[in-house]
Amino acid sequence: MQTENLLTHIEDGIALVTINRPKKLNALNRQTLKEINAVFTHLKEDESVKVILLTGSGEKAFVAGADIAEFADYSVEEGKKLAADGQALVFDYIADFPKPVIALINGFALGGGLELAMAAHFRIASENAKMGLPEVSLGVIPGYGGTQRLPQLVGKGIAMEMIMTAGMISAEKAATYGLVNEVVSQEELLDKGKAVAQKIMRNSMVAISAAIKAVNDNFVDGVNGFASEIEAFGQAFGTDDFKEGTQAFLEKRKANF
Ligand code: COA
Repeated sequence: MQTENLLTHIEDGIALVTINRPKKLNALNRQTLKEINAVFTHLKEDESVKVILLTGSGEKAFVAGADIAEFADYSVEEGKKLAADGQALVFDYIADFPKPVIALINGFALGGGLELAMAAHFRIASENAKMGLPEVSLGVIPGYGGTQRLPQLVGKGIAMEMIMTAGMISAEKAATYGLVNEVVSQEELLDKGKAVAQKIMRNSMVAISAAIKAVNDNFVDGVNGFASEIEAFGQAFGTDDFKEGTQAFLEKRKANF
């Protein structure tokens, strides 16, 4: 697929998706958002792809936010549409993605950049990463799910402080908050992501997909996550992966999913 602002490299079941506008610190303009949706749609269909690693180009930024130059003169209606379309096409799309998506935060993850990382299923950061939601410093609020996902990940009090101060936190602090799972050196980040992806790929991708949905259902208004879990747990018993997984255990061998 031809993309202007994204690089996609697929190897051994892992798709590495790199936001590639380094001169603009990988800021998310309309074109980039459109391409993220298109590439992820393609990755959903591509059966050779099991896990997606999402990162930013260059050594400075993961993504420094939504492209401020693009929305600076938007009206109320245009602002609303920007958030609604972005959430549906990219942020919720990634959060609900049926294959694991891991954000590798290699520098600034600000505003829409942190929101993109938070839409991924979990995050690993490099030591130089800096994270924050600076929107109120621009007179706007986070619009790509930040007011919802940050409190889910770090708790309401810390989220309120981060949003109100518009400040940046270090990778180390983000790890203590549970916002990122691990911090490694910048040189190690990609290998770390691949190692985690390989560990994931030893397991049943069918079961993982069902687990992603069950976990996410906890956060959907009006949906009972426990009921979703019971349903998905039952459905698992009808899959080939369940037969192979249990059989392999009983035969004292590794499962071949
Ligand atoms: N939207 C549009 N352009 C952006 C951008 C964004 N969110 N973040 C960075 N850029 C652009 C800069 O305008 C600059 O472009 P130019 O060279 O054409 O002038 C280029 O990326 C490099 O950024 P610069 O500000 O010169 O780098 P820096 O090292 O001095 O500062 C940051 C880095 C991240 C602190 C700073 O770029 C910044 O504050 N960015 C905006 C962060 C933000 O508020 N994001 C939330 C948006 S809702």
